Amino acid sequence: MSKTKVIAFANNKGGSGKTTTCSNVGCAMAAMGKKVLMIDGDMQINLTISYFNEDQALEYAQNGKNIHTAIKEEKDIADFVVETGVEGLDLVPSSPLMSGIEFDLFGKWQRELVLKKCLERVRAKGYYDYILIDSPPTLGGWVMNIMCASDYLVIPVEASPWGLFGLANMFEFCNQAKNIAPNLKILGIAITKADERKKYFKQTLETLKETDGVRLFENYIRVDSAVEWAQDNSKPVVAYKKTSRSAVEYINLTKEIIEYANR
Ligand SMILES: Nc1ncnc2c1ncn2[C@@H]1O[C@H](COP(=O)(O)OP(=O)(O)OP(=O)(O)O)[C@@H](O)[C@H]1O
Ligand SMILES: [Mg+2]
Repeated sequence: MSKTKVIAFANNKGGSGKTTTCSNVGCAMAAMGKKVLMIDGDMQINLTISYFNEDQALEYAQNGKNIHTAIKEEKDIADFVVETGVEGLDLVPSSPLMSGIEFDLFGKWQRELVLKKCLERVRAKGYYDYILIDSPPTLGGWVMNIMCASDYLVIPVEASPWGLFGLANMFEFCNQAKNIAPNLKILGIAITKADERKKYFKQTLETLKETDGVRLFENYIRVDSAVEWAQDNSKPVVAYKKTSRSAVEYINLTKEIIEYANR
């Protein structure tokens, strides 16, 4: 296996904390001295605007410096990397044109493996310790590409009734991906937006602990307005307010992710 580990953040449930988790884990890893490349795989370009203001993000969408161009033209991902301003942390921005990615992939040779091939040279170089991929809230050909390009999958889950609903589809989809990418492993489920005052949260925790064969990360992320203030300032909370509760929780979750990804 290459030194570079690829971790996807995916869940077909919208708003489950995928982008916030990817953005903060990436920044926390960089603060720990790791070299990290994040890939924004969603047409909502939320990971891109986690680091850049809207004007800059739209410029990347227009000038071709984005994942959509890389996939459409099947090019080496290295040509699409931008610096985030955080030392050791780079990004491949997204574009609203990702809305048409299913169509763009349709006629391609080995269409589930296009992203994997775009990553091949960067992986072979081994410069990055981690490549983190933020997925859209769908389960189609593009997310199949993300899973087939990844070594590990982290599933952010919101601690709510509908947060759990649909998780079985997610596992089923992952099993399908394993037919093409047998080495793909679910690293674990990360609970986000937890509110410990609610009885329902404890029930969610118990349900997830009993999920057969799937690790539940010990460090979960509680609901915290600092996350939103940080996003409003185009920064991950671990950089915006290091002492906030959610920043500390994200740093601890990152340590867990690193530990399990290196076992
Ligand atoms: N710990 C938290 N405390 C408070 N708000 C949070 C927290 N984590 C995420 N949020 C908010 O919840 C919303 C959804 O989070 P996020 O965008 O990360 O989810 P997502 O799974 O990427 O969504 P999508 O499926 O649309 O891509 C965002 O508005 C974000 O600001
Ligand atoms: Mg998102």
